[in-house]
Amino acid sequence: MRVHHLASAKKDGTKLVMLTAYDAVTARILDAAGTDLLLVGDSIGNVMLGHDSTLPVELDEMVVATRSVARATKRALVVADLPFGTYEAGPEQALASAVRLMKAGANAVKLEGGTPRAASVRALAQAGIPVVGHLGFTPQSVNMLGGFRVQGRGEAADVLMADAQALAEAGAVALVLEMVPEPLAARVTESLTIPTVGIGAGARCDGQVLVWTDMAGMTDWSPRFAHQFGQVGEALRQATTGPRCARSPSPRRSTGSAPDSDKTHSTMAGALNHRLEGRSREPDASFYAYDHDFFGFPCVLGLTGRPRAAWHADSRDAQS
Ligand code: KIV
Repeated sequence: MRVHHLASAKKDGTKLVMLTAYDAVTARILDAAGTDLLLVGDSIGNVMLGHDSTLPVELDEMVVATRSVARATKRALVVADLPFGTYEAGPEQALASAVRLMKAGANAVKLEGGTPRAASVRALAQAGIPVVGHLGFTPQSVNMLGGFRVQGRGEAADVLMADAQALAEAGAVALVLEMVPEPLAARVTESLTIPTVGIGAGARCDGQVLVWTDMAGMTDWSPRFAHQFGQVGEALRQATTGPRCARSPSPRRSTGSAPDSDKTHSTMAGALNHRLEGRSREPDASFYAYDHDFFGFPCVLGLTGRPRAAWHADSRDAQS
């Protein structure tokens, strides 16, 4: 997926699929599944770093996440968010920050705001950096907007229309519309040649974006508009505490003399406790294979495609 495919998708009427990703393991799965755009969103602040807004996110944190996602992505266009405080001062600051994200492997950057950002969008475009705009509810301005609420109602609709035009004219390659009424999102979409990607903006945008953990059922709370397509959180809980994690010695594990007690615990938590309590210290093949399985947690969950043979090799290394 390249930047010119965005405009052609709009022309063809092909809907774009954008999901957030913050690390390599997730990016690999979402990319292989055919996601068009992977957004290294500053929602990493809420989703992964435990903040209650995106405001504390640092550019250095975005650089690490962007590198991880870019390394694991083969097809999707990687878009990285410019975090709060790294571009508002003007084109020069925006360019310096965007260059860091591009060097980390992004194919485009995203920034929030309308007409006041047009000069920065133009400067980045002229420097060869594709920019995705973001209008409507812009989380970095949550304090100014008075909370998590729909934007663009009443007279504010015309302001949003003008902002969309200004960003497009400045050279933005796509526009995220967050929490705006569907008729307004449709008006913006029809008025632009660049695609709109909606989140809580109805079905008439050129594409949709979701925070992947909302989509996958990973969190206790998610916005009303975020459709859940899976229950990964529950799968994780079960893998950690339930029978899916039951351990019976496999031929691989029985290459050493597995202590009998190793066969008794049926959960990952049990396995860890067992080890911490010092009941299984013998450096036999069974122990290390088991240990590697524990720390190869994503593999146990079926999240990675790492060949089993590699784990064998690791466990041999661990013994030497
Ligand atoms: O950071 C993010 O996840 C976003 C999406 C909500 C569009 O900006």
